[in-house]
Amino acid sequence: MTTPPKETALEQRAAEGAKMYSPSAARNRDNIRDVFVQTMPQEGEILEVGGGTGEHAVHLAAALPQVRWFTGDPDETARASIAAWIADAKLGNLHGPHAIDVTAENWDASLAAAYEGVVSINMIHIAPFTAAEGLFTGAGRLLRPGGKLFLYGPFSRMGVHTAPSNDAFDRSLKSRNPDWGVRDLENDIVPLARKNFLTLDQAVEMPANNFSVIFRKN
Ligand SMILES: C[S@@+](CC[C@H](N)C(=O)[O-])C[C@H]1O[C@@H](n2cnc3c(N)ncnc32)[C@H](O)[C@@H]1O
Repeated sequence: MTTPPKETALEQRAAEGAKMYSPSAARNRDNIRDVFVQTMPQEGEILEVGGGTGEHAVHLAAALPQVRWFTGDPDETARASIAAWIADAKLGNLHGPHAIDVTAENWDASLAAAYEGVVSINMIHIAPFTAAEGLFTGAGRLLRPGGKLFLYGPFSRMGVHTAPSNDAFDRSLKSRNPDWGVRDLENDIVPLARKNFLTLDQAVEMPANNFSVIFRKN
């Protein structure tokens, strides 16, 4: 019996060879870039996990030419897309894709520590909570003091959904996989951050009831 492919995205993506196009990345990449360049380090090494198609990596690395951007994804099809986007973009500061699964024990062990930034866009709600735990554990070890972790996606706040559409989205995620779901910033994520020497710096409201959330390494 063959195992069905693991679901990694909720949308229909167009493809051109290995290169995939995400409609949601096309919609939100400019807004994410604008907040990212205002809040995140402008130079040094940044690690992206759950890179997906690779579109955010290309967009953000192009906007931050002094940054060395490393990206990865555990999914082979995603890595092939990332590789195709990287090849076409011809940016000197964009590297990868690496096979990074933040639920693997010590996933960060082979990476040199002292990153200025770690970023994960639209990942922790479309993965079991162990992925959020692994992301924060690794980020706590990889980031230099003062370095930042950037998350983007929907969050509830103090146990309350910020919009009826996020409540519906949460239910639909859980119906696909009971381990998925919109995470609560104050109740689920801030305690994880604290455990890993990270402090909540900013939660920036984004279009369509999403947030960019930035943590600082103590
Ligand atoms: C919804 S997609 C988002 C992709 C991209 N960041 C974007 O916003 O377009 C979620 C991505 O997270 C990746 N992912 C899922 N579990 C992961 C894990 N344990 N470690 C790292 N990445 C993971 C998936 O393979 C997928 O590419």
